[in-house]
Amino acid sequence: MNKQVTITVPATSANLGPGFDCLGLALALYNRVTFTAVSTPTLTIEVTGLDVEKVPTDESNLIYQTANCLFERLGKRPSGLHIQQENNIPVGSGLGSSSTAVLAGLLGANALMDGTFTRSDLLALATAEEGHPDNVAPALLGGLVLGVMDGTAVHIEPLPIAPQQVVIVTPDFQLLTKDARAALPTQISRQDAIFNASRLPLLIRALQTADYDKLAMAMQDRLHQPYRLPLIPGMADAFAAATAAGAAGVALSGAGPSLIAFAPDHHTEIAAAVTAVFQQNHLTSRSWILPIETSGTQINKLASQGTI
Ligand code: HSE
Repeated sequence: MNKQVTITVPATSANLGPGFDCLGLALALYNRVTFTAVSTPTLTIEVTGLDVEKVPTDESNLIYQTANCLFERLGKRPSGLHIQQENNIPVGSGLGSSSTAVLAGLLGANALMDGTFTRSDLLALATAEEGHPDNVAPALLGGLVLGVMDGTAVHIEPLPIAPQQVVIVTPDFQLLTKDARAALPTQISRQDAIFNASRLPLLIRALQTADYDKLAMAMQDRLHQPYRLPLIPGMADAFAAATAAGAAGVALSGAGPSLIAFAPDHHTEIAAAVTAVFQQNHLTSRSWILPIETSGTQINKLASQGTI
């Protein structure tokens, strides 16, 4: 039987307001990728689920590209490869879809070829590919994770978080991460640095203890959201509508265009209020009420199961 490995990677929401490029949270929504080694020298890629039309099925496919990089590092590769990609996370939505592809490619190639790269080696490679650790680290480990860059080295700090559900609303609007990053200033004031530096530990503490009273202040940000909200039709009004419907804290998910809201209850009402604002701005949207994901990326080999 051909050797087969399945990698399951959760969605992530990066930044969470003040944690720009360093804080991320894993969510219980998953992309699943199955790699099958085949004996003929062929590459076939089959994509199912959401946004199929946005995913290339040739050598430019991101999962294949990252797997190929790892085959090169390992100095071995299968004769041919079949990739089945099941997408449940919308592409380019600020929910870490590209991180799932990078991690699936690296972990899948390593497992398929019985490679010896460790979890931390692969996290370093994934962070280098993404440019920052705030999606790949929680996607790999699960839960709430702080990623600290020290030069090119990445230090990962998993942080406790109270079990809770979050609301995600994704408007059907294209905002490329590179454009959302290009909108940011290269310099910030000392006041804005202090504003974010004081809120990040408050946010971590509030999430740890599910202290919803502190979240509204703790999720404020002056590094990226003030520059990005105007790029997305209705987003500033969507923040206000989520709050009016009962959200304790609201943030842009990653570089957008998704919104993430935290609340002790009224999740359905919050999703409906945000959806209505996007509708008023002529945008359809998808919404989810998701538990926090705590297991991280899972690897299943055909004959045996386990994590690296
Ligand atoms: N921290 C990143 C950003 C996440 O906000 O640009 C998106 O890759």
